[in-house]
Amino acid sequence: MDAKNGMDLSLWSRCFLGHLPTPFHSLKRLSETLNARIWIKRDDLTGFGFGGNKVRKLEFLLGQALEQGADILLTTGGIQSNHARVTAAAAASQGLEARLFLTGEQPPSFNGNLLLSELMGAQFDFIGDADASLLMAAAARTLAARGRTPYVIPLGGSTPLGCLGYVQAGLEWAAQMASEAVAIEHVVVATGSGGTAAGLAVGLALSDVPTPRVHQISVSRKAEELEANFQKLVGGIVDLLRLPVDLEIDCCFYDQYVGGGYTCPTADGLEAIRLLAQTEGIIADTTYTGKSLAGMIDFVRQGKMGRDAPVAFLHTGGAPAIFSKPEVFFRRACCR
Ligand SMILES: Cc1ncc(COP(=O)(O)O)c(C=O)c1O
Repeated sequence: MDAKNGMDLSLWSRCFLGHLPTPFHSLKRLSETLNARIWIKRDDLTGFGFGGNKVRKLEFLLGQALEQGADILLTTGGIQSNHARVTAAAAASQGLEARLFLTGEQPPSFNGNLLLSELMGAQFDFIGDADASLLMAAAARTLAARGRTPYVIPLGGSTPLGCLGYVQAGLEWAAQMASEAVAIEHVVVATGSGGTAAGLAVGLALSDVPTPRVHQISVSRKAEELEANFQKLVGGIVDLLRLPVDLEIDCCFYDQYVGGGYTCPTADGLEAIRLLAQTEGIIADTTYTGKSLAGMIDFVRQGKMGRDAPVAFLHTGGAPAIFSKPEVFFRRACCR
């Protein structure tokens, strides 16, 4: 692998699931509309199990699970969790069971990601506001006592091992930037549990391209919490890969685009989704990418990134969730 530090990700077990590399291209009509130079990395097109960022993390987590002889995957997320959906797909593809501990109450009908997970054979535990890690640990003990081999994947797959998927993505993306001869100065990404941004920042820092600034748009947490999670995960990746600690990482953290909360769409996010859809024919979601897109559009409109600086949006997927609440697109005024 062509990286400054000679680090070799092929040393880790990996279960290849995604359709990689994902495309990287400019957004001509959006750029014209906003008078900016905007590019996109299409991790919504990782393909497997309806795609998105979680596919890359699961390649490494599943690699370890299979190595350990796991026969059931346990994980957690919200009712419309993309991560839970891709975990269900990963389990199905390897002949494993998936048990999903979903925060909240069982909805009257299954749609969006929940429907997809059900179709792929997942089992559900609707856990209200209980602590998912405790419940998963207890379930794993019970399963092991019955002779099963459970593999627990924490929220968002954001362990240092899962983050390797995004270290690899950073290297992949840097090679594309080099071959397109574009020096991206700013990258914008939606951040929840933090593993995507942490792996990406490390991957970009390990590559041979000038390191772009990674702007992390929170979808739920306060900026300080985002930064603390990020530092911890970067530390974990550095330890796992035995990297030098002086990596050139440049990150900013924002929480002003969260709006009313994690699952609550914002008016700016809905406007951003329509703008991307109507200029480029690309679909974002209300929980993650609509909010990060709204952040990027705001930065560009305010001239915060410089008019001529190439900016790139990491599309992390999530579109299946929009089918769970289509009505929010027609009630824009009350969503702030
Ligand atoms: C579509 C989408 N984008 C972004 C994220 C955030 O990724 P991370 O949890 O690694 O910060 C998620 C996480 O669930 C997601 O589903």
